[in-house]
Amino acid sequence: MKFAILKNEFDDGHENWAHACKKRGIDFEIIDLTSNTWFEQLQAGTFRHCLACPPGRQRVFKELYDERAYVIERVSGCFLYPNYREISLHENKKYLSYWLKAKKLPHPHTHVFYNRQEALSFARQATLPLVGKLNIGASGKGVRVLRRREELLSYINSAFSTGIRGQWGPNIKMGSYTNRFMKLIREPTRVLKRLGAYRRDHGELQKGYVILQDYVEHSHEWRIVRIGKSYFGHQKTKCGDKASGTKGINYVLPPAHLLDFVAEICLANNFNSMAIDLFEDGKGGYLINELQCIFGHVQEYICEKNGTPGRLVRESCGWRFEEGLFNSNLSYDLRLENALALAEKRVT
Ligand SMILES: Nc1ncnc2c1ncn2[C@@H]1O[C@H](COP(=O)(O)OP(=O)(O)O)[C@@H](O)[C@H]1O
Ligand SMILES: [Mg+2]
Repeated sequence: MKFAILKNEFDDGHENWAHACKKRGIDFEIIDLTSNTWFEQLQAGTFRHCLACPPGRQRVFKELYDERAYVIERVSGCFLYPNYREISLHENKKYLSYWLKAKKLPHPHTHVFYNRQEALSFARQATLPLVGKLNIGASGKGVRVLRRREELLSYINSAFSTGIRGQWGPNIKMGSYTNRFMKLIREPTRVLKRLGAYRRDHGELQKGYVILQDYVEHSHEWRIVRIGKSYFGHQKTKCGDKASGTKGINYVLPPAHLLDFVAEICLANNFNSMAIDLFEDGKGGYLINELQCIFGHVQEYICEKNGTPGRLVRESCGWRFEEGLFNSNLSYDLRLENALALAEKRVT
């Protein structure tokens, strides 16, 4: 079996996929999905199995990736990992809110307005605070907690006139300036790449619609991950208004009912590689905040029990913790193992 790795415009996910393939001796070729000849390249290589790198920074490339992934999986019938549904839900907050509503899955109540007057009349009587969100964007940079009425009205007016942008630059929550300066000296190429990312993030302008979400009181978010039969989880701790992009991790083992909740969603919707971020609803249940089929992790592992890294596996008697390092190569090694098993099942 030969895989086409579908490189995006910016991230290095294709390198992680390539590294995973090399380790297992799997044949692969990297195809730039942003190229005009992407389809011809796939045809020329007679590829039927593809590994995806869905992007998450600019709307234009997100659209490109979704459209081409659709054609690859749904029109051409190729095997795609993560699959089209997982890719389409990735980094699209408004679409995710419609999807969760239609699936009757609990999530923070989300309002998406394409009409300024409708948004303003909602805002004049809405309970504050509300959370304004950019549709695409990570690390909390596109999220604003709107506590005052004038702030909310001005946010809406900007969304329908000049447009709104994410916060520029590094996340203040992500570490000290001294550390950053040292990094610049030690790893100039990496730092230049980051600067490019900031420029792209900030260059992204959202105009003509506004996403407002009910505010959910929280001290942390849960991150639960499924990759094949492996599940992982921890809490992301809040810094300022946000639990995203803070690198604050609390290695608390997720409770069984949370793991069950996530596992049921993944099984029912064919999510094989998925990170689900959730708030607690204060009534013993959970609200889904985000779904990401490819996600980075700064730490070497996602889950630990009593200081030992590992994964959770569901068995007939319940959840069993298995010690070990399962997240090497940013979890792409585990994803490839899962992709191979699924692809083989499909072929036979
Ligand atoms: N509805 C909400 N109520 C309160 N805080 C929120 C809400 N949505 C997001 N946040 C906070 O903002 C952070 C970033 O929001 P999120 O939707 O996860 O976007 P990002 O894509 O930037 O991670 C979250 O980690 C959470 O702490
Ligand atoms: Mg988040």
